[in-house]
Amino acid sequence: MSALFNTFVLLTQIAAILAALPPIQKCPLSDSKCIKASAQNALATFTAGIPEVGVEVLDPVHFNIIKINLSGLKLAIKDSDVYGLKKSVIDKLSVDTEKKLVQLNFHVAPIELKGKYKASGMLLILPISGDGDVAIKIKNIQVFMTMPFEIVKNEQGNDVIDIKNYKYTYENNENTHFKLTNLFNGNKQLSDAMLTFMNDNWKLISQEFGTPIVEKPVQKIYAAIKTYLRSQPLAEITNV
Ligand SMILES: *[C@@H]1O[C@H](CO)[C@@H](O)[C@H](O)[C@H]1NC(C)=O
Repeated sequence: MSALFNTFVLLTQIAAILAALPPIQKCPLSDSKCIKASAQNALATFTAGIPEVGVEVLDPVHFNIIKINLSGLKLAIKDSDVYGLKKSVIDKLSVDTEKKLVQLNFHVAPIELKGKYKASGMLLILPISGDGDVAIKIKNIQVFMTMPFEIVKNEQGNDVIDIKNYKYTYENNENTHFKLTNLFNGNKQLSDAMLTFMNDNWKLISQEFGTPIVEKPVQKIYAAIKTYLRSQPLAEITNV
């Protein structure tokens, strides 16, 4: 096959990839309002995953295993899916080109995790044991992410945003509801008492054990943003 033909095939593939991507409303990097609106518009397509550039599906987002071993509680959540990110509302999205920081604030109301769990040990002041289904529904979570970046050249020599890492905090102030089946080998009295205790003390439980669970989807969101931005020449998504 000729080099010309190979080039033609490559260009056709690139054109097909670009055609498959959602149209992005271009913004100047300094225009946070425009960037926020553009990202909000692209959110549904983005959270559905963009396999062409390696962005994973974010709604639902799947986890094989989440393990917690904290304050006397041993908890493993297997094969869980987190639902709701496609309905995220972006509250702030800014790109500070001087400090080289992306700031992303968003909230999701509600967000829900469903999976299988195995628990043993102590939950705050009560012994817990169980092996069954778990559903955790957070009524409204606010997430604040900061991501330092550099502008680098990609393989084709185009400038792209290369996000380096992330820091985040979150707030969960409204309510969290827990549903677990087969607590205490299905003993109804004990499981009802435990579920009541958990739902009455959702705030304390979230404070104590929430971070390792929230960390997982935030990691995936970070990876998706990083992968996406690394794949998009700056000139394609902004008008500087
Ligand atoms: C869980 O944590 C305890 C206390 O920090 C530690 O002794 C134990 O080895 C841990 N178990 C596992 C499975 O990581």
